[in-house]
Amino acid sequence: MGAMDPGPAPFPAHLQAPGSTGSAFETMLDVASLPPGSMRRVSRGDLDVLLAHTPAGIVATDDRCPHMSAPLSIGTLDGCVVACPLHDGRFDLATGDPVQMPTTGGLYPDGRYHPVWTPDGREPKVDAPGKKAEARRLTRIRRFRYYPVRVVDGWIEVALPPVPEG
Ligand code: FES
Repeated sequence: MGAMDPGPAPFPAHLQAPGSTGSAFETMLDVASLPPGSMRRVSRGDLDVLLAHTPAGIVATDDRCPHMSAPLSIGTLDGCVVACPLHDGRFDLATGDPVQMPTTGGLYPDGRYHPVWTPDGREPKVDAPGKKAEARRLTRIRRFRYYPVRVVDGWIEVALPPVPEG
C-alpha cells in the first residue's frame, strides 16, 4: 500500500461472504478509478462486485441491493450509506444494516415487518391482496456480505470465492 493509498474499510466479521475466507486476492481496479465518494461495478464471470470508496475505506460487496437485487453501483453514496435507485432503500455499508426501508415495505433482517411507504398526510395504504403484494411483504432485507479488500501498489485487490467448475 502506498503512502497515499486508501485502505480497506472494516466490516462485521460475521458478514464475510461465503467462500471468500482464504481465497486468493484478485486485482479488480486501480485506486485512481475509485475516487472518494464513488462506486463502481466490477464483474468476474457472473459475479458483479460493488466497490465503494467510503470515508471508512474501500468496501467490496455484491452489486445487488439487499432488497430485490438492483445494481447499487448506479445508486448514490453518501458517506457510508448507499441509496438504491429502485425503491429508495438506503443501507449502511459500515454495518450492513438498512437505514431506510424500501418504499415497498417488507421485512427487516431480523424479520420485523415494515409497511409500504405512504406520503406525508395520506392515509396508510391498504395492503393489496394477491401474490405480488405478499411477495413484497415477505421480502426480507438481507445484510451485505463482504469480500476482503487490500490495496497493493495502487491496485484494489479483492478475495472472491473460487470460480465454480464446469
Ligand atoms: S431493490 Fe433496492 S430498494 Fe428495492
